[in-house]
Amino acid sequence: MYEIKNQRLKRMIESDFTNEKKRMIRQLKAGNGNMAQMTDRMADSEGKLIRPVLFYLVYLLFSDCPQRGMGRAAVGIEWIHSASLIHDDIMDNGLARRGGKSFVSEYGLSDALIMGDFLIFAAMQELNSVQGKNAGAVRRQMIWNGLMLCGGQKEEKKLLGNIDAGQDVYFQVIEKKTACFFEAVFKAAAFMADQDLKTVENLGDAGKELGYAFQIRNDIADIMAADGEDGSSDIQRRLVTLPVILAYRNGGRYVKAALKEHYALGRDRGSGEIKRILLDTGGVREAGKIMKRSLRTAYDILTDYGRSDALDEISGIMDYLRDTI
Ligand code: IPE
Ligand code: IPE
Ligand code: MG
Repeated sequence: MYEIKNQRLKRMIESDFTNEKKRMIRQLKAGNGNMAQMTDRMADSEGKLIRPVLFYLVYLLFSDCPQRGMGRAAVGIEWIHSASLIHDDIMDNGLARRGGKSFVSEYGLSDALIMGDFLIFAAMQELNSVQGKNAGAVRRQMIWNGLMLCGGQKEEKKLLGNIDAGQDVYFQVIEKKTACFFEAVFKAAAFMADQDLKTVENLGDAGKELGYAFQIRNDIADIMAADGEDGSSDIQRRLVTLPVILAYRNGGRYVKAALKEHYALGRDRGSGEIKRILLDTGGVREAGKIMKRSLRTAYDILTDYGRSDALDEISGIMDYLRDTI
C-alpha cells in the first residue's frame, strides 16, 4: 500500500479499507469455494492502492472521517482496477505484476480471464451495497469509467508500432485507459461528500490531470526499467509512448531513422539503444515536464477547496509520483 504520511489519516483509511476487504473476501470465499485459492492469491498481492486512498482523501477534503459504507466503494474501486490489470497482463504479455508473477503467467489464460471477470462482479456487489442519497451517482461513475477503460485498452493498438502517432493520439488513449478512472474516483468521492455539481466537475478535472500524470510516469518508468529482454517491456512491444513521441519529434536524422526502424519496421534495435536515444534526445525529460505540469494543474484546482491534512496528503502523493521517475 502507498505509505500515507499523516498517521491519523493512515489509521483511519487503512482500518476502514482493510476491514471491508477482509469481510468481503470471507463472503466471497464462503459463497464461491472453487475460487477461494485465487481469491486469496489476489488478496495477498496488493498494489499501491492509490485509487482507494485517493477516494478517501478527496472525500476527507470535505469531512473529518469516512462515512459508513465508504469501504465498500473503496474496495469496489480497487477490484475494478485489479481486474483491469489481470486482463491487461493477458493483452500485454505481462509476466510480472506487483513484485510477483502475473495472474496469467501463474494460472494460465482461462483462469486469468475468469479471475478478472470474478473481480468485476465482486466489485459490482460492493458498489451495489453503497448506501446514501448519492450512492447511485457513485455507481454511475464507476460504470462509466469501466466502459471508458475498455475503450482505452482497445485503442492502445493505435500506439503499437505507430511511430507517427502524435501527442494527441497518446493523450486520447491514456485519457480513456487511465485518466478517466482517476476522474471517476475523484467525482465519486465528491458525490459521497454530497458536493454540488460544479464541485464534482472541478474535482473530476483534477482527478483526470492526476491520471494523465500517473500514466506518463508509468510509461517513463517502463522505459527506465527496460533492460531485460523478456519481451514484455513497452520498448520490446514497440509501444509508442510519450517519451518516444517527443524523441521522434525532436531528434535528428539518425534518431528518427533508428526509432522508425525499431518501432515501425519491427527491426529490433535492442532495449539499451532505444532507452539511450530516449534519454539523450530529452524525450524522457520532456515527458517528465508534461507530467509535472498536469500535477500542478490538479493541485491548483484542489487548493480552491481550502487547506487540510487530506490536501497535504494528496500533495504528498504527487511528490511521490514526481520523485519516482
Ligand atoms: C498500473 O497501476 C497501471 C496503470 C494504470 C498505470 P498502479 O500503478 O496503480 O498498479 P498497482 O495497483 O499499484 O499495482
Ligand atoms: C495499465 O496500462 C492498464 C490499464 C490502464 C487498465 P499499462 O499496460 O500501461 O500498465 P502496466 O505497465 O502494465 O502496469
Ligand atoms: Mg500492461
